[in-house]
Amino acid sequence: MAEQHVTDRAKTLQELLKQYGYEYHTLDEPSVPDAEYDQLMQELLQLEEQYPELKTPDSPTQRVGGEPLDAFRKVNHRIPMLSLGNAFNEQDLRDFDRRVRQGVGDDVTYVCELKIDGLAVSLSYEDGLFTLGATRGDGTVGEDITHNLKTIRSIPLRLNESVNLEVRGEAFMPHHSFERLNDAKEAAEEAPFANPRNAAAGSLRQLDPKIAAKRHLDIFLYAIGDKGDHPIQYHSEGLEWLESLGLKTNPEWRRCDTIDDVLEYIETYTSQRTELPYEIDGIVIKVDALAHQETLGFTAKSPRWSIAYKFPAEEVVTTLTDIELSVGRTGVITPTAVLNPVRVAGTTVQRASLHNEDLIREKDIRIGDEVVIKKAGDIIPEVVNVLEERRTGNEQPFSMPEECPECNSELVRIEGEVALRCINPKCPAHIREGLIHFVSRNAMDIDGLGEKVVTQLFQNDLIEDVADLYGLKYEDLIQLERMGDKSVQNLLQAIETSKDNSLEKLLFGLGIKYVGTKAAGTLAKTFESIDNLMNASEADFLEVDEIGDKMADAIYTYFQNDDVHQLIDELKEYGVNMAYNGPVINQEDVNNSAFAGKTVVLTGKLEQWSRPEAKAKILELGGKVTSSVSKNTDILVAGADAGSKLDKAQELGIDIWDEERMIASLEQ
Ligand code: IVH
Repeated sequence: MAEQHVTDRAKTLQELLKQYGYEYHTLDEPSVPDAEYDQLMQELLQLEEQYPELKTPDSPTQRVGGEPLDAFRKVNHRIPMLSLGNAFNEQDLRDFDRRVRQGVGDDVTYVCELKIDGLAVSLSYEDGLFTLGATRGDGTVGEDITHNLKTIRSIPLRLNESVNLEVRGEAFMPHHSFERLNDAKEAAEEAPFANPRNAAAGSLRQLDPKIAAKRHLDIFLYAIGDKGDHPIQYHSEGLEWLESLGLKTNPEWRRCDTIDDVLEYIETYTSQRTELPYEIDGIVIKVDALAHQETLGFTAKSPRWSIAYKFPAEEVVTTLTDIELSVGRTGVITPTAVLNPVRVAGTTVQRASLHNEDLIREKDIRIGDEVVIKKAGDIIPEVVNVLEERRTGNEQPFSMPEECPECNSELVRIEGEVALRCINPKCPAHIREGLIHFVSRNAMDIDGLGEKVVTQLFQNDLIEDVADLYGLKYEDLIQLERMGDKSVQNLLQAIETSKDNSLEKLLFGLGIKYVGTKAAGTLAKTFESIDNLMNASEADFLEVDEIGDKMADAIYTYFQNDDVHQLIDELKEYGVNMAYNGPVINQEDVNNSAFAGKTVVLTGKLEQWSRPEAKAKILELGGKVTSSVSKNTDILVAGADAGSKLDKAQELGIDIWDEERMIASLEQ
């Protein structure tokens, strides 16, 4: 036990560090030199190591304590995290203002805020203590990223009042952190992040909090999800309250009495945005009075009392130096503009899809032209138009070839389609693109097998079809560029894990014409196994609601093909699952499940279920599965021959279940 003076000292250190941290990270007004802060932190770390009972959950040392997770736990948003409708010009804003005033009368005031370009998150505080941080996810179910959010220094681990509160905001990467991170990536010869938003998202999607801790993220809180019983009447009052609790809000917000004031605010920040130390992509306008918000209510997707004004896409001029052709998975030939590299909306652009020959003709795009580029939806680069007045006469008109650029077979234009296609099934480009599709996220989702690795495997003759992926050996992979021992082990494990995927992922991955993720899901659920699909008639497919003539014909034809039979047999031999693994569990089941919010450790040999199967089910039901037993473990599932983890769990008084109980509970 620590003596009183040690306890007091630890408490003082915690308070001081909390205060200095708040001044530095939330107020941007440091009051002591960094060295002094570091020294006090070292002292506290030492004390807490010596006397672990002094380690409170809100101690400044607890920001990067946790072990890496095995997977993210799902979090149910009791109040959905909605997105906003968009306005692109003055007219859209005036229309919004008219709708609002029609709903609540002319006595309306607005709050304007910067639209921070990061990742929406929700923070929950219980009795003032930070207990849960989650991503927005699909708005209803997000992921638990508490471990990473704790590393953001401007998120207080304890508020100034013991309140229950759920608050929302944008986690983001400031420009200086982004530049530092990309410099480090470059020095390590790693691919840099395209923009601060991706970098923030990538950092928060890490299982190991040590990575996020190094990335220096920040946050602005802008909305109260659940204010408990705190009386607030205005959004602006809520922002002031958040600030008084020690939460970081963006200081640039303003009350605006009229839509003209709103337009003026927009104008100011349109010109000042590049001077801000973080990225913004627009302005958010909110009706200030909560009573008005309530009257206005929501549409299916977004509140009627708020709108996001999006800055117009940045346009830049560059030279189009070439037009390259690529062959896609279905044989479609796509022309791509090669550009002199140019910065636009936060990234360097050097290519832009031209989609098809008709578009090139319509815009009269020639090689050597100066062109205007923008990013559609701020993501996908596109050629807006050609600057004809700048032509010198040396520009070369472009026409599509008659032969496939990869296999030289004759291209065809299918009636009613603008695209030219290569219909040679043995065309190496088709095969390579099919492989890339097979491993992609919505298909077999093999982590570590991206486009580059697949292309290398294909070029080195290590794979010819998707079944070959399952025959890959350590020796095959270690010879590839940029593949070390650890990456090879991880990749082999990811390939192995993908064998357990449910049928719909395999079906989508096979790339059957017209079968997207939705149809693949329906087919898997209805037919349950690949054998049933192979034995089904065209009429059987047509009986399914969502399947029309064209798709039924394509599926039937696909499964009649001898090469397809051979491929399926090979996959079966490798142990790839060919059955539907059951429905994705609904939210109500999660709420009622014994695993919701629980941290579970699986140990020993499970007899009836495979470990990945058990883990997947626990995750679906809102639990978290970790690999080591600690005081944070809620349930230990002990299979046969459980060893030291069982001993430790007994020692810590953790709830111990056998496999039967786990299965009974998961199947309930
Ligand atoms: S308010 C129900 N305020 O923009 C309204 N959103 O589609 C909740 N964002 O998903 C959002 N800055 O990720 C709000 N000051 C701000 C914001 C902001 C950025 C993001 C947020 C949201 C999206 C709107």
